[in-house]
Amino acid sequence: MSDKNPYKFNGDTLVIDDESKLSNTKSVYLESYGCAMNFSDSEIVASILSKNGYNTTENMYEADLILVNTCSIREKAELTVRKRLEKFNRVKRTNSKVKVGVLGCMAERLKHKFLEEEKIVDMVVGPDAYKDLPNLLDDVQDGKAAVNVILSKDETYGDISPTRINSNGVNAFISITRGCDNMCTFCVVPFTRGRERSRDPQSIINELNDLHEQGFKEITLLGQNVDSYLWFGGGLKKDFSKASEIQQASSINFSKLLEMCALSQPKIRIRFSTSNPQDMSLDVIRVMAKYENICNYIHLPVQSGSDDVLKAMNRQHTRKEYLNLVKNIYEIIPDCSISHDMIAGFPNETEQDHNDTLSLMEQVKYSFGYMFKYSERPGTPAAKKLSDNIEEKIKSRRLSEIVDLQLKHSLFRSKEFIGKTVEVLIEKESKKSDLHWAGRNQQNTTVVFPKENYKVGEFVNVKINACTSATLVGIATGFSKNN
Ligand code: 5AD
Ligand code: SF4
Repeated sequence: MSDKNPYKFNGDTLVIDDESKLSNTKSVYLESYGCAMNFSDSEIVASILSKNGYNTTENMYEADLILVNTCSIREKAELTVRKRLEKFNRVKRTNSKVKVGVLGCMAERLKHKFLEEEKIVDMVVGPDAYKDLPNLLDDVQDGKAAVNVILSKDETYGDISPTRINSNGVNAFISITRGCDNMCTFCVVPFTRGRERSRDPQSIINELNDLHEQGFKEITLLGQNVDSYLWFGGGLKKDFSKASEIQQASSINFSKLLEMCALSQPKIRIRFSTSNPQDMSLDVIRVMAKYENICNYIHLPVQSGSDDVLKAMNRQHTRKEYLNLVKNIYEIIPDCSISHDMIAGFPNETEQDHNDTLSLMEQVKYSFGYMFKYSERPGTPAAKKLSDNIEEKIKSRRLSEIVDLQLKHSLFRSKEFIGKTVEVLIEKESKKSDLHWAGRNQQNTTVVFPKENYKVGEFVNVKINACTSATLVGIATGFSKNN
């Protein structure tokens, strides 16, 4: 669906959604890859462009501008983008006027080299430079190389109200931090997204209130490392010690921000991602336990169960510290679900290290997991210092052992819901049946159930009677008290 239409249906009347869209004459086709942050950034890009003559379109053949928001996290993600560029090249052959821009992490990583390597690319824009898009588009029109990959000390886009593209009107992202200071040795993110900065809490609350007014029911606070959120008036987190005493004393950390959000909109469900074990405080867990509208779900990447590997990865926690945090989470929030990110085949990983990963998984029994083979990223500390010395065959076998174990645990966690009634926020039609709704419970597990007369965006209680490892199946017993 194109958002060229400046009107939206508001109950029973048509209202102007965005005045600026009325006068927009050009269209942009925007494709996003990678993490939720990239999808959220694309909404900022759409907002900036809508103030500069562009509405979004879902048809690349009718677009004046094609933008691809890219991911560099693994080699495969970059290869996917290269393939898409071939497709955009074919579009360019049918319409020589269309311009192609590369945004995001690949733009930041490859910089000017992109223009040389991929002749079809007209514009290269890093994640902190989207406000410069209107100027860069002018440069493109004038036939100049348009590249801006400057990483910022304070850009958070806090003053921009994102255009919710492809939204279901129910779930939305709110970015709260940008960048990462952790320097895990395998990870390219600190190089592509720069140092950590936090966004003004007032602008976060304003966005939350706005979303509530527009009818959204669930928001996810986003950042590479949300638990490290710290507002003391702006600037890089690493400069906190240089802030004045007053700024330090009145600073707002993640547990305070989470509480502010929960209190501001008690009817909105709140999620957050991603948490880094070393930064997750007991205060955060206590705030989660205190407020019903904060979902009992934590995405808590660990990457490996072996202390030797964790050390080589420069993770700032040991296996024991991680397991202690998990114990505290289950003690304070017994029905909390936890998910992980895991990497198989990091340099020098032994069979014993791999078995340590499996045994850590056995202890936690995660509800979900995102599991990857190690992919060497140019320029990272691991690429510089360690040889990618685990054979592909071994990486694959270890990964499939991790995936198989996770499937077993996901089924174990799903089965725990059988016979119970859970609150579900209806998000969309089930993929497998147009007679069923699909939504998620607080713990982030997908739930499907017969539609009856319920509607998207409603909170309903669903009694669970069957499950697979990924989905709970049940029957609605009525609206939940949250509705
Ligand atoms: N190779 C494989 N997986 C990686 N991740 C990050 N960098 C790499 C890499 N070089 C994974 C981590 C991280 C997730 C977002 O992507 O598990 O938590
Ligand atoms: Fe990358 Fe580690 Fe930062 Fe996550 S915490 S973005 S894995 S450096």
